[in-house]
Amino acid sequence: MKNLLLTLFAALLIGSTMAYEPPDEGMWLPMFVERLNYVDMQEMGLQLTAEEIYSINNSSLKDAIVGLSGGGVGGFFCTGEIVSEKGLLFTNHHCGYNKIQSHSTVEHDYLKDGFWAMSLEEELPNKGMAASFLVRMEDVTDSIIPFLSDTLTESERTAAVRKIRTRLAEKAEEDGKYTTRVSSFYGGSEYYLFVYTVYKDVRLVGAPPSSIGKYGGDTDNWMWPRHTGDFSIFRIYTGPEGESAKYAEENIPLKPAHHLPVSIDGYKEGDFAMVWGYPGGTERYMTSFGIEYKLDAFLPTLIEIFDAQLQAWKVHMDADQAVRIQYASKYAGLANAWKLFLGQTRGLKRLKVYEKKQKIEIAFQAWADAQPETSEKYGEVLKNLEEGYANLTNDFPVLVYTALAANSPEILGYAAQYGQLLELLDSKADDAIIEETITQLRDGMGGHFKNYYAPADEDAFAALMEVYHNNVPLESQPEYFLELVDDMNGNFIFLADYVFNNSIFESQDQINAFLDKPKKKTLEKDPAFMLSTDFTNMMGQVMGQYRQANTQIGEFNRLFIAGLREMKPDKVFYPDANSTMRMSYGSVQDYIAADAVFYDYFTTLAGVMEKEDATNDEFFVEEKLKTLYANKDFGPYGEMVNGKERLNVCFLTTNDITGGNSGSPVINGNGELIGIAFDGNWEAMSGDIAFEPELQRTINVDIRYVLFIIDKLAGAQNIIDELTIVDTPKHTKVKTVNVKAKAVTEKSIE
Ligand code: ARG
Repeated sequence: MKNLLLTLFAALLIGSTMAYEPPDEGMWLPMFVERLNYVDMQEMGLQLTAEEIYSINNSSLKDAIVGLSGGGVGGFFCTGEIVSEKGLLFTNHHCGYNKIQSHSTVEHDYLKDGFWAMSLEEELPNKGMAASFLVRMEDVTDSIIPFLSDTLTESERTAAVRKIRTRLAEKAEEDGKYTTRVSSFYGGSEYYLFVYTVYKDVRLVGAPPSSIGKYGGDTDNWMWPRHTGDFSIFRIYTGPEGESAKYAEENIPLKPAHHLPVSIDGYKEGDFAMVWGYPGGTERYMTSFGIEYKLDAFLPTLIEIFDAQLQAWKVHMDADQAVRIQYASKYAGLANAWKLFLGQTRGLKRLKVYEKKQKIEIAFQAWADAQPETSEKYGEVLKNLEEGYANLTNDFPVLVYTALAANSPEILGYAAQYGQLLELLDSKADDAIIEETITQLRDGMGGHFKNYYAPADEDAFAALMEVYHNNVPLESQPEYFLELVDDMNGNFIFLADYVFNNSIFESQDQINAFLDKPKKKTLEKDPAFMLSTDFTNMMGQVMGQYRQANTQIGEFNRLFIAGLREMKPDKVFYPDANSTMRMSYGSVQDYIAADAVFYDYFTTLAGVMEKEDATNDEFFVEEKLKTLYANKDFGPYGEMVNGKERLNVCFLTTNDITGGNSGSPVINGNGELIGIAFDGNWEAMSGDIAFEPELQRTINVDIRYVLFIIDKLAGAQNIIDELTIVDTPKHTKVKTVNVKAKAVTEKSIE
């Protein structure tokens, strides 16, 4: 009792003096948490020991975190967390989307209806999906940098580093037991070795219907307030001895070193929260010249191209459910990037990121110029970056219009796969070799056509060819293409019609007929094949300049970061994200989105009902969910607030995350799972380039909503039973009470 009174008193005191605690910027390397962050984290509410968080000798929290990929460890598209002793894994719905799509048909539409395995036997295996555990990491900078001579050019340096990196990584594989990689940090000033165990049998266990997992669709994407149940469930399988093994029916569920307990106690504003995972990339050290390049070249180019393709596909997806399934995953990926780029453009401008970067650069230049040694090392860095970016701005659009506008119609990408066959036919290669190539092409054909609908691609092709033609200087467009444009009087619909009518690559039957009796000439006069070859050649011509600009930027970016660190020796500079495991910590917080716009830190099921729109499938709400809501049938996952039952859906934290962190666990001070991170907010979309402490938030799905859906909506008790659920409040500490926010919160609850 005394304790409780004291805590309450302390909370009130803190509440009145510290209404807002600045969130913590940085995605930290687990290996250094004890040294750099631990004390801070403890002060904010972390109860675990440093050893419980990251240890290479004992099982620790990091052993419950996996990177998801197609099989490699060079990049992870998402993160997952282990939540049972039988290798059960939670991630986002949008992370599993591609796999859910691949199992869906018009008859069994798991995208639309969801999927729940009620036993191990019902789980669905996935081709090309792997889950990687970090075994350990190690600083290998001293095995690389001292061996690089000062006289190397940047490209020679890159080549030398690559050689050493490969050797170091191979040495750590221990005869194939581990998959390893040496990753570059601070633009190439430091290098770390990462050792992983990669599991390749990962099966689909559960997914909510898209009306829950993708609720709000592209309209709500990248935005708060959010009401999306963005989760899906997988399970990792191993060979009989717990070893990594490729798919086999008799494989057994993984016995993990650690799994996260799940807390259904909820959170309060100000509560400590950490996020673990595999953020893909940030550019926090980008200069004002880089921002200029983004705004003038990079972002507008990609937005225009993606827009054309999306619009073309959408018409066909809306008209036919089969096409909608075929294009669901491709469309979602492109739409997600498209909206991100729009948001970045807006954020960079509104938040005056260019001006902020300039300030840093003025200080940097003054510091460099002050001493002869620093001037010699760093005096020309900014000038070189300016030049590099100016060149990139020049060269980028042609390259990207050629690479993306010209090469991304699916028919061209697919036709390109037949280039090798043409070479073999041309060189009169051995029949056996030709046969082998044909078999490979036939094997891959099903995969391509499963998600292919020629009329949708034809419309996309027409739109993209027009974008390409209008944006690339005529002298950089292939002759054959210009002839076609001429023949069709500049009508791109006619041009597309001609190509699709005269190419074999539009249908499986025609390709099979060709493969039965392959003739060189068929390929040589196929318009899709010809265009694809020409565009690829054109790309080769501009690639050189583009690479050169990038090399220059790479070199001086490294020096810029090194200089910054030298300039402020007492400041800890965290490294940019690079698909290696990171931890970020912060707290649960609301935010002020704009003048007079205050956003609370959580949403509830009431908001799902509010947004319902029967005429728009992005805001469809299924009957069962409505009934559960009407009956307030929330099980142990709801909470009683002011005499009313409430079920939280999503919440906000100040954690610093980016793409790749999707699916990451949000963990409370006791090391328990309270949510799954899935998005960032619209007002701070330039956050990958400059962190915005006041504005930037991570959007998480509340783990209680996840459990509610599994339990009450799907009735998958088998999944609930596997979890380690914690529902006794372990601490009643209220760290910060935001008085203003509280008043609003109470008002907003009906
Ligand atoms: N913006 C989220 C991310 O990049 C993806 C959300 C997926 N939802 C969607 N409507 N496309 O992690």
